[in-house]
Amino acid sequence: MDRIRITGGQRLNGVIPISGAKNAALPLMIASLLTDETLTLTNVPRLSDVSALSRILSNHGVDRSVAGKRIGQSAETGQTVALTARQIVDTCAPYDLVSTMRASFWVIAPILARMGEAKVSLPGGCAIGTRPVDLLLMALERLGATITIEGGYALARAPKGLKGAEIVFPKVTVGGTHTALMAAVLADGTTVIENAAREPEVVDLAACLDKMGAKIEGAGTSRIIIQGVSRLGGAHHAVLPDRIETGTYAMAVAMTGGDVLLEGARADLLQAGLDVLSQAGVDISETNEGIRVRRNGAALEPVDVTTDPFPGFPTDLQAQLMALMTMAKGTSRIRETIFENRFMHVQELARLGAKIRLDGDAAYVDGVEKLTGAPVMATDLRASVSLVIGGLVAEGETMINRVYHLDRGFEALETKLGRCGAQIERISG
Ligand code: EPU
Repeated sequence: MDRIRITGGQRLNGVIPISGAKNAALPLMIASLLTDETLTLTNVPRLSDVSALSRILSNHGVDRSVAGKRIGQSAETGQTVALTARQIVDTCAPYDLVSTMRASFWVIAPILARMGEAKVSLPGGCAIGTRPVDLLLMALERLGATITIEGGYALARAPKGLKGAEIVFPKVTVGGTHTALMAAVLADGTTVIENAAREPEVVDLAACLDKMGAKIEGAGTSRIIIQGVSRLGGAHHAVLPDRIETGTYAMAVAMTGGDVLLEGARADLLQAGLDVLSQAGVDISETNEGIRVRRNGAALEPVDVTTDPFPGFPTDLQAQLMALMTMAKGTSRIRETIFENRFMHVQELARLGAKIRLDGDAAYVDGVEKLTGAPVMATDLRASVSLVIGGLVAEGETMINRVYHLDRGFEALETKLGRCGAQIERISG
């Protein structure tokens, strides 16, 4: 298993290109199941989650071609991926494939909408919490599907097709909203989704579905209205920039000090995160090329932050913010309200010398003078990258184990940080 070795203490200076968003690319790829024509996606990040989903889609009969690297294109430039589901050859998504990535459960919606039935393995728990799929199944039931659970599989049937309906989510769910959208676009009649997720990735999926011929209004608000159509066609769509990667590198620069342009980043996708960094004393400015992040010498101020659905502070940046606040002048409070068990990084940050107390859904972080390098490992993607942020300022060497978590969601992490001056290297094996 690969490891990453970081020797802390270098400031970051330069340019970091921001990749396409993992959490947009995944539902967009799944949307290719809705049509027998080709969906061409550009700016698709090179990530192991993208490869894992590609394997799952090919099991359903999706042909995939990836445009080669052109002269002048660096490895960090996103790929162009053409996906064609001329025929769905298998309506079942088996356990061994779905268990590697929760988002693959979302294939249930397009397969059901197009084929009248789908059988998908229940995804099970994961490191950040129980993460049930009851609301996704509720949405499909509202659209007229019958759902049975058998042998660890959810079996959804709608032999006469889905029917438009009102879907009211009792809590905001990104996956639930993606699922409802992908099912409703091919349903007969009008669907209204209430308390829909407003995340930019939902807006990106809706924009792509519209290009494919869907009729969707209100994406980006909590009320989405969909007029079902009988078929969808092919389209070209560019994956939006990754706001979580953006926020992660912004926090890395905030931690080390320095001056970095996050090229291609969009501030409107991450206002809550950028506001928190400004409160902490980090200099953030928008430029034509992206977002510039600077910190020169000034101390980091502690913050009081609660994670919330968009446009609130994202849970996917909570671990990174906690790493940053370990070096603030004072005590920060960070509350996690989306997932009940997303504090697995606390013990590992403590190994670097962080002082963090947990009290229910809140973490109290007492800033320390310095962190010290240590071997660490984490159980999920965002927790792993919080350890990278810690390692960048820790005295001496930090060895990050279980790097496969990072490869799921950060394209060319060590190259991007290394080019800005970080002492970071991957050790194979
Ligand atoms: N929930 C239910 N029932 C459901 C679905 C969700 O109770 O049927 C709960 C969850 O347990 C959680 C809350 O609702 O407490 C929100 O979950 P949501 O459905 O919004 O999360 P998700 O769609 O499974 C996506 C991202 C996550 C991100 C969350 C929240 C993708 C592939 N995943 O997950 O990203 O944390 O939204 O923004 O888009 C990551 O990238 O590291 C990651 C975990």
